[in-house]
Amino acid sequence: MMLAIPDILTPDEARMFRLELEQTAWSDGRASAGALAGRVKDNQQLADDNPLAARLGGLILERLARSERFMQAALPLKVLPPRFNRYVGGGAYGDHVDSAVLSVPGAPLRLRGDLSATVFFSDPEDYDGGELVIDSGLGETRVKLPAGHMVLYSARTVHRVTPVTRGARFAAFFWIESMVRQGDRRAMLLDLDEAIGSLRADTPDHPAVLRLTGLYHNLLREWADT
Ligand code: NI
Repeated sequence: MMLAIPDILTPDEARMFRLELEQTAWSDGRASAGALAGRVKDNQQLADDNPLAARLGGLILERLARSERFMQAALPLKVLPPRFNRYVGGGAYGDHVDSAVLSVPGAPLRLRGDLSATVFFSDPEDYDGGELVIDSGLGETRVKLPAGHMVLYSARTVHRVTPVTRGARFAAFFWIESMVRQGDRRAMLLDLDEAIGSLRADTPDHPAVLRLTGLYHNLLREWADT
């Protein structure tokens, strides 16, 4: 499953935060990569205790909670606090897989990464390269979204960020543990949820709307872990 979720931040908010991100201190992204990923990772990250990371991460989490599309698609149980990265001067992140289990900085908590997310802070015209290339097993998809938009994709995929050859690419990235671990079940639930939504919009009083809504919730009850 791969899904773009527009307008997690407004263009103005994304621009304001980008200005702050341009001025803050960055450290080598390799410090937080595993041995294998560290060999192909060439970017910078904000330290977890950077106050900008906490402020901006908090806002993103707040917006996610209010995004019906995100809640519908991810069925989130836990969301890792967003981290931030910068790619500049040819920086790239070669093919890698994300870790299965991630720790919450500064807390004795861990989560299983079912979904990976990237929120873009730079507009596509501000930089060359810097595409997120996701190999879903059925070919590659190249993702480069407007500032303030987010992409949600399966953490099981092999993916990379191509070299940024002009300008700078700022983004937030984080992982989600879903109540529904299996991606195909999540996809079916999203499909059913959307179908019920359009049926409800057209014929709200049809008795099938209630039955299908019941079916959705009973499937979720079967499949969700909380
Ligand atoms: Ni990754």
